[in-house]
Amino acid sequence: MNLLTQVRALFEPAITALAPDKAKVPDYLNAIKPSSNADNGDYQANCAMALGKALGQKPQDVAKALVAHLPANDLLEEPTVAGPGFINLRLKSDFLAKAVQSIATDPKLGVAPAAEPKTFVIDLSGPNVAKPLHVGHLRSTIIGDALVRILRFLGHTVISDNHLGDWGTQFGMLIYGYRTFLDKKKYGGSNEDKVRELARLYVLVRQVAGTIDIISRGFTHFRDEGAFQANPVAELTRVYVNGLKRASAPDDDDDEGGAAGPPASNPVADGFRQETAKLHEGDAENLKLWREFMPPCMEEIHKVYKKLEVIPFDHEHGESFYQPMLAGVVESLRSAGVSEEGDGGSVIIRFGPENVALIRKRDRAFTYTTTDLATIKYRIETFKPDAMLYVVDFRQAQHFANLFEASRRWGYEGVELNHVKFGSVLNKDGKPLKTREGGTTELTTLLDRATELGGALFEMTYWQRKANGHDVPDWKEYTEDEKANIASAVGIGAVKYADLSQNRTTDYKFDFAKMLATDGNTATYMQYAYARCRAIFRKGDIDEARFRANPPAVAITHPAERTLALQLLRFPEAVEAAAADYLPHLITAYLWDLAKCFSGFFEGCPVLKAETPELKESRLLLVDLVGRVIKQALDLLGIRVVERM
Ligand code: ARG
Repeated sequence: MNLLTQVRALFEPAITALAPDKAKVPDYLNAIKPSSNADNGDYQANCAMALGKALGQKPQDVAKALVAHLPANDLLEEPTVAGPGFINLRLKSDFLAKAVQSIATDPKLGVAPAAEPKTFVIDLSGPNVAKPLHVGHLRSTIIGDALVRILRFLGHTVISDNHLGDWGTQFGMLIYGYRTFLDKKKYGGSNEDKVRELARLYVLVRQVAGTIDIISRGFTHFRDEGAFQANPVAELTRVYVNGLKRASAPDDDDDEGGAAGPPASNPVADGFRQETAKLHEGDAENLKLWREFMPPCMEEIHKVYKKLEVIPFDHEHGESFYQPMLAGVVESLRSAGVSEEGDGGSVIIRFGPENVALIRKRDRAFTYTTTDLATIKYRIETFKPDAMLYVVDFRQAQHFANLFEASRRWGYEGVELNHVKFGSVLNKDGKPLKTREGGTTELTTLLDRATELGGALFEMTYWQRKANGHDVPDWKEYTEDEKANIASAVGIGAVKYADLSQNRTTDYKFDFAKMLATDGNTATYMQYAYARCRAIFRKGDIDEARFRANPPAVAITHPAERTLALQLLRFPEAVEAAAADYLPHLITAYLWDLAKCFSGFFEGCPVLKAETPELKESRLLLVDLVGRVIKQALDLLGIRVVERM
């Protein structure tokens, strides 16, 4: 029961009758929107301007004609025409009261299932196994999980698939590092120790190869021969420092937009490349090591998912899963005329004069693009989806644009392929936040820290509230379990909400102080608002099951009640808008407005002490619905509430 849809439906016959070009009717309908200024009404129809132009009539006259043709209804008060032809719409309070009462018996709180349920594949998380899990993957996991929840709530079928980077160059680096630098003592212990040692090896090999690369490039390009003869060590140091300034540390693979590209030939880089090639060719020793490294790494990654409380993924088909298909994919692309031959026997797909994707390298190796093409083929054939969403960092925009174009040329048309991109995670100072030095354990530590801070915040707030004379339970009543539960709900909720409340296309600053603020658009604030609703029910000793089964009549006697009722009824609008553009922040924006309406209501309208028993019941219903909508909306974002704080 989307209010906006209902309002548009009232206008549709009148607009259709007037519009000279019927194809434009949806555009005219889209110009009916929530009012930007509540003083003007609840909704505003701004279609008379465009319609007037098309008809060669004054927009004001068109607006009046539209109003005159509206069917009789009990939704709207008499519309008013303002300015050059804006139609201001105000919902009848009676209608609002009845509508609010009716959503109380709806487990989905007014959100209707999608008219055309679709099948979505969501590609999310995608960490690179055995490489430090970086915060970008955290973002993909959080946003992807929210989209899974939102789309499922609307009745779509969603298949989540974690496209693990489990076959890349990092394994060559690990195998090389394992053979060269392994610290057996450290590797011998628990899985966590193993993963930490592997992370150290990864970083070490990368650094050693990078350092040699920088020195040798610098040595070739800007060594001072005289200085080198006089003091070789000092000159090499100078060359290195200078080289560092010119090239940021070289990356080991080509899929992440590494700044300087892979290191040129040097003993260490050649060493790890050979190990990667051997692995990919099926070398028994290297495969054995790969199989040995995978389980502890996956276990650590799964610990992060568990702490994040994301819905377990339906599939984790990583890059390795597609390896057997790659030769066939290249062959199929070739015979479909999608690819062409590149330099030295390589195979490429050409998108533009400067834009070419490699699908088979000169050394016969396949690429990230080849694997992704195999993935598309596999998913389309296996899941038959209507849409495939890739929740991946915006830096891969070119990769996905090429990928989607290649799939169309290959014949996979009619499936919505969408790069649901997001910005970088920055630190407080606005610099990219990097977890370069540690393994997965570093992200685990970050999440544990969030929970710790969540617990501290809860405790601090508790004592503040007690000191301010709030009605709070005795501290001894909270068991250790309850406290731990609150701490993780608050801490993990804060991390997720901070991420999701940003328009995903922008960068976002990871700042514990801001995300844990108790006032403002934060998870904590919403969780407190929820707990407040629950507290009112406890205090009034009300049996909520009975209450929900037989919702009382709603009376609108105060402007704050009206505003709150309207906002409650807008929940479907928010969910549908978030789903339409894959923008979870539209739900947090909705929640923030709801919380503001609730606090206005709370100030103006006594609930348990309302003037009459009927009014008390009516207000209790509003309170209950606020709690239920907050809980449901947070759940769509993967955030828990607690019954008391
Ligand atoms: N592992 C990749 C990375 O870290 C992300 C994978 C995204 N999904 C995909 N189908 N390419 O860059």
